[in-house]
Amino acid sequence: MSGYFYLHTMGCQMNKYDSELISGLLIKEGFKPAVSEQQADIVILNTCSVRALAAQKAYSYLGRLAKRKKKDKKLILVMSGCVAEQDGLEARDRIPGLDLVIGPSKIREIGKYLKETIRKKRGTIAVGDEGIDWKADPLIKRVSPSKAWITVSKGCNSFCSYCIVPYVRGRELSRPFEDILKEARELAAAGYSEINLLGQNVNTYGKDIPGHRDFSDLLKELASIEGRFRIFFMTSHPKDIPIKLIDTVAGSSKISPLFHLPVQSGSDRILKLMNRGYTRAGYQNNLKEIRSRVKGASITSDIIVGFPGETGEDFKETMELVSESGFDSAYTFKYSPRKGTAAAGLDDSVKQWEKEKRLEDLMALQASIGQKLNEALEGAVLEVLLDDPPYGKGGVTARTVSNKPVMLEKTGGLEAGARFVKVKITGATPFAVKGEPL
Ligand code: SAH
Ligand code: SF4
Ligand code: F3S
Repeated sequence: MSGYFYLHTMGCQMNKYDSELISGLLIKEGFKPAVSEQQADIVILNTCSVRALAAQKAYSYLGRLAKRKKKDKKLILVMSGCVAEQDGLEARDRIPGLDLVIGPSKIREIGKYLKETIRKKRGTIAVGDEGIDWKADPLIKRVSPSKAWITVSKGCNSFCSYCIVPYVRGRELSRPFEDILKEARELAAAGYSEINLLGQNVNTYGKDIPGHRDFSDLLKELASIEGRFRIFFMTSHPKDIPIKLIDTVAGSSKISPLFHLPVQSGSDRILKLMNRGYTRAGYQNNLKEIRSRVKGASITSDIIVGFPGETGEDFKETMELVSESGFDSAYTFKYSPRKGTAAAGLDDSVKQWEKEKRLEDLMALQASIGQKLNEALEGAVLEVLLDDPPYGKGGVTARTVSNKPVMLEKTGGLEAGARFVKVKITGATPFAVKGEPL
């Protein structure tokens, strides 16, 4: 067994975290990272199933590799992640060359499964959710030397009617409080500048641990760790965001004042069908609480257009909500039916062209809002964190304390190895600001 593996990641930050964990676990088991897909004996695709297009991309990537496998018989193909969990055995029917199909709740044992698959020369399906053992997580092999992800809870219990995540990530389970603190202390001591806390809904962190401390307690403890770093967190579900959390964010300069608060729709009727658990007025009340308590708060959102039965009137309400909300940015999606979810039983009635038109209108509106908010920053002096080299396309990029991208012009004076720098904001686009280091 030569054992060189190559890992390609699709999907959200949770998957990026899982990929770093898979790398760490495989290295511990004696496998070695390959420099390219061509030089690997084992190719792992960590997949996303949130929309149909993401799942299709996964299958076409693996289809291409299955062709290579016809010539290169020893190639081991692994599908991990959310499509693996959703499709299980069916994935092997579609891609007969697949050796291992492994879901998110099983990746902490990937070394064992992969070795077994190779030894027995037989395909393995490892799916299902019997909980996970967080003891594996400290073995993570992080890609970035400055930005770290920590998964604070896995799974989701919310069951929004359109969403596949609760089915592919299983039930919510929190990582023990002390484990997270220990890891964060080590990251701070190792000079990390950014810690990103991940959970499908961080508001419910700890509820499954007897005598639990909550997410705000966790943030407070993390913020008291010595060192120069920023703390980000996502996602906070708008149905149950506690005032204690808002005040905790307000109370520490280490915690980013950024709230990612996916609204999904501005129509109460659609929100109800989505099983989101809040109304438009309730959502806007959250924004009011955040803005009145947190200085310099930034709010970003996710929005779906074309949910089953969404009328022109419903969509108008979404447009109104976006006009009123002043989101720093919004991720916008066309509704995509996912097999097994509650909404999959509803008629996907909004025509494709209509979804596209709504998406376009929504994106144009948000772009104009982003442009105005960003222009308002012109002239401000902000402390930004430089991205890891080789930086962004077309020059050095950095991030503000609320994760807004900053395109740096005139970077000649930057010190080698610099992380935090002060910049003057000199220009704006809908999605970023431009700045000059001082
Ligand atoms: N737990 C997070 C992230 C969920 S997935 C949250 O609650 O915000 C990220 C985004 O994908 C969602 O917020 C939603 O806007 C979008 N999404 C999820 N399922 C979708 C579907 N079936 N069709 C289109 N967009 C979807
Ligand atoms: Fe999906 Fe809703 Fe859970 Fe987010 S909170 S992962 S949208 S079910
Ligand atoms: Fe993330 Fe996609 Fe799974 S968004 S949780 S990788 S379905």
